[in-house]
Amino acid sequence: MKRTLTFLAVLAALSTACSLPAYGADAAIAARVQALVQQMTLEEKVGQLNQVVASGLTGPESAESKNVDKRAAIKAGQVGSVLTVKSVRETRELQQLAMQSRLKIPLLFALDVIHGFKNVFPVPLGEAASWDMQAIEHSARIAATEAAASGVHWTFAPMVDIARDPRWGRVMEGAGEDAFLGSAIARARVKGFQGKGLGQLDSVMATAKHFAGYGAALAGRDYQAVDMSLQQLHEVYLPPFKAAVEAGVASFMNSFNTLNGIPATGNAMLQKDILRQQWGFDGIIISDWQSVAEMVRHGFAADLGDAAARAINAGNNIDMEGYAYSGNLARLVREGKVSQGTLDAAVGYVLTKKFELGLFDDPYRYSDAAREQAVLNDPSHRAATRDVARKSMVLLKNDNDALPLTKQVRSIALIGPLADARRDLEGAWTVYSDPEHVVSLADGLRGHVAKGSRVTVTQGCDIACTDTRGFAAAVKAVRAADVVVLALGEGFDYTGEARSYTSIDLPGRQAQLFEQVRAAAHAAGKPVVLVMLAGRPLIFADAAAKADAVLYAWLPGTEGGNAMADVLFGDYNPSGKLPITIPRSLGQVPIFYSYLNTGRPVPEVEALYGSAYRDSPNTPLYAFGHGLSYTSFKYDNLQLSSTRLSGNDKLTVSFDLHNSGKRAGEEVVQLYLRDPVASIARPVKELKGFRKLSLEPGRSERVSFEIDRDLLSFHHADLKWGAEAGRFELMIGSASDDIRLEANFELAD
Ligand code: NOJ
Repeated sequence: MKRTLTFLAVLAALSTACSLPAYGADAAIAARVQALVQQMTLEEKVGQLNQVVASGLTGPESAESKNVDKRAAIKAGQVGSVLTVKSVRETRELQQLAMQSRLKIPLLFALDVIHGFKNVFPVPLGEAASWDMQAIEHSARIAATEAAASGVHWTFAPMVDIARDPRWGRVMEGAGEDAFLGSAIARARVKGFQGKGLGQLDSVMATAKHFAGYGAALAGRDYQAVDMSLQQLHEVYLPPFKAAVEAGVASFMNSFNTLNGIPATGNAMLQKDILRQQWGFDGIIISDWQSVAEMVRHGFAADLGDAAARAINAGNNIDMEGYAYSGNLARLVREGKVSQGTLDAAVGYVLTKKFELGLFDDPYRYSDAAREQAVLNDPSHRAATRDVARKSMVLLKNDNDALPLTKQVRSIALIGPLADARRDLEGAWTVYSDPEHVVSLADGLRGHVAKGSRVTVTQGCDIACTDTRGFAAAVKAVRAADVVVLALGEGFDYTGEARSYTSIDLPGRQAQLFEQVRAAAHAAGKPVVLVMLAGRPLIFADAAAKADAVLYAWLPGTEGGNAMADVLFGDYNPSGKLPITIPRSLGQVPIFYSYLNTGRPVPEVEALYGSAYRDSPNTPLYAFGHGLSYTSFKYDNLQLSSTRLSGNDKLTVSFDLHNSGKRAGEEVVQLYLRDPVASIARPVKELKGFRKLSLEPGRSERVSFEIDRDLLSFHHADLKWGAEAGRFELMIGSASDDIRLEANFELAD
């Protein structure tokens, strides 16, 4: 009897081993994974799928979390990965515990390294405004280098959710509203984080999150339900995730929201059909913080055990700080509610990454204190934050060349709650917030002006700006100045997770402060420069109309003050373009450039019966792709290699870009396409190409884009991918609302 049982067990193990998917590209690793899985007990397998937080919460603390002895669990092989660990000391200590477990399977250490580690880069939405893929990749590269030197193996970034509602606080963490730009940025960030590949000591595993639809939360309220057509999902929300897979991303995180009623964490269509089968993803799929357990509150699972079964059966591998797997999965397998094969496959994905990182050869290889010191103190990293920050800033308006400022200016009145802010410039999701080392705008301006020039700093109020008692001093400061710079906007904690707002005006009475200072300045004939600091588009139409110049500086990071001063004084010619529309009013939200035309577009149809607001233009305050420079660019001589495209041919569109101003500068040229007649209505325009070019004054460059069938394809109503024959409209411009060149071409059958 005993013999038979053993034999059966071996058989079962063997058949499980055979049904395991081939992990990663490396056959040797796949073999090691299979061998290890066969040695593991059921409990040890479940352990690999259990992720716990070390210290510092990034979500609500559950009762299970409070009660569990995490150190003991690690020693017992009941934990596979730990989140929110950020130093060599800490990672060594925890890894030593894992080395006391029976099979000595090393832990993975994960952390939200979102926009920098020790050196803080602009918030991701700000970086996206650079439209500079090299800069974005470089930023992620440096963050990865620093994180990996501190023992971190895995970042929960990039967030590649498309977001079109600025009320949602996490709009700050993504790349904005557009699928094409978002996909390019997803690739750049994954490449930056993962560098030359897993296992390199300066590389971390990247995570494409949150899969999927999280950015479309109803009414901009975080965690809210998402209901959208599958066509829309595939056209707009999924492309950046697919791009991340193509770039080799190591892991995916699913999302908190329901998608058409089914929680993403328990969504087999997303995780199994699309991600694993259609896209061939072979990395780890992790839940979000307790998102397995939250399926109970969603009304999708009866209890924690049911949630665990639904999550793993739908393709979720790791349970993040949720205790749904640790408490139930072994039983569920014994009861046959989760198959041994499903469990082994999930464990295999996790072990593969541990092998690829080299942790089985040396579990401490990322935890070297001397390297940590050297890397974190590398001065080139800090310099890079300044470079990326200035590239991210968007000059929205510059009447009468109010900018750049001259360094010989006698006196600048710097006014506003963010004038001398440091912590706020870092934004949310900092690992080591180090406000003392942040350069404020006041520091930046002082460091740039000529000797003898004065910079006075008057806050007027704090960021919440409920108290107007400081306004008089602010107005007074205008008198002695030649120019006024107002630094307004939001603090670091206004955007990020769970930071949704129903009003995204300038906080409190900041608009009133602006108006009083502006009136005094203009009465005295002094220009007013408005510097906007925020992780989201704010509603500030009135101030924008009245300021002479507006610079949208986002939350620019450690060297933010220097970067802003570089732009304000013209040491750097601004080159950023909006990756997201800035609305005139909240009533226009959601607003984005790639909308459908309706049957009654205005002005084509008279306004009275047209698709228009009675109290506002349809157009935004500043459109997607908008951003000025201190020089000007002319677009000319458009040529198409052919006006007909057939089969697998390519069509080349080219034109001259000419720097017609007096300064060297960069321009982001944008290619938009429209399919005016299709089996499913297509947007009025869609970004399908862009390039950032640098030109000396008076110089021209011939720019070209290639168009092929794939670029004209879309998901049809039945979700099939393909292009439809007929006429296409091509637009080239400096912004989505500033089209300079247009042409038509035909796609043959
Ligand atoms: C919840 C957030 O949604 C996710 O983006 C983050 O990575 C995890 N918490 C871990 O902190």
